[in-house]
Amino acid sequence: MTEPEPPSSISDFSRYRAACAEAATDPVLFRSFRRNPDISGIIEPYIAADGPERPLALSIDELIGKLAIEPDFVQHYPVCKRNDEIGDPPLTHVDGLGDASIYTLRYIKIAYDMRRLFGSLDGLHIVEIGGGYGGQCAILSRLFKLASYTIIDLPEVLQLQRAYLQALEIGSVEFLTKDDVAAERRWDLAISNYAYSELSEELRAFYLDRVLARSDRGFMLWNYMILAFARSGHDYRAALMDELAVLAGIMERIPNLRFVDELRLASDVEYRNHVAVWGHTA
Ligand SMILES: C[S@@+](CC[C@H](N)C(=O)[O-])C[C@H]1O[C@@H](n2cnc3c(N)ncnc32)[C@H](O)[C@@H]1O
Repeated sequence: MTEPEPPSSISDFSRYRAACAEAATDPVLFRSFRRNPDISGIIEPYIAADGPERPLALSIDELIGKLAIEPDFVQHYPVCKRNDEIGDPPLTHVDGLGDASIYTLRYIKIAYDMRRLFGSLDGLHIVEIGGGYGGQCAILSRLFKLASYTIIDLPEVLQLQRAYLQALEIGSVEFLTKDDVAAERRWDLAISNYAYSELSEELRAFYLDRVLARSDRGFMLWNYMILAFARSGHDYRAALMDELAVLAGIMERIPNLRFVDELRLASDVEYRNHVAVWGHTA
């Protein structure tokens, strides 16, 4: 008997994958996929299946505070809010904005963080490793005139991204599994939020080679402690040493990688997440 393949990441498990494929192909399930705990448990955690959002760590006040300083936020919010027309996400009332998804607000904040670091993203070829249901892609595609957007993910998750982005009429997105990533590709900007850092050692090495080291700019929200904690049997010191060794390996290939931790939200600080960037001008 052959051994089953080990999971490629902490989110690579069968219920999540099956739920994404089902939501992508069944219009009834698709209508409310952002309330399906098998999906939201991975991509939009802290949301109760049947009730209002429970943002245990993400604070709506903090997000609004960060967005309010962006001069064009109010102008662009209506088009960004279209993200919430699909999948029936749980919404929270926000004065001045109406009903809003905290996760959509977070995608918008991240888009503005990138603009702050790299300038306008107009004309860039972007690649995202682990794109969730496509929420970040949708926001960036609305805010900028991108040259192209490629998402690399598990096949079932790509199906859901395709369905979601099609429903929002966001075209020209390329969906790739790991095996489809050509060795000679290059990108202007690589993104991987709460995703690359969750991958197995083997996959991190693969994507470092094929994607990160082949991208002129990068932005990664690095939630490393979850994986390293589990690997080390919840020994904080061992987890930290382990993860620092991984980061040192990445910095050998991308010497201009820096941590810009002031961009973190309080939830990231609480979970010891970091923001890793390279190729930025600010
Ligand atoms: C925690 S979610 C983060 C989603 C999104 N980036 C965000 O900011 O909310 C982790 C993402 O990594 C993806 N993922 C899991 N295993 C993967 C793999 N082997 N290759 C690429 N992506 C993978 C998941 O499907 C999911 O899209």
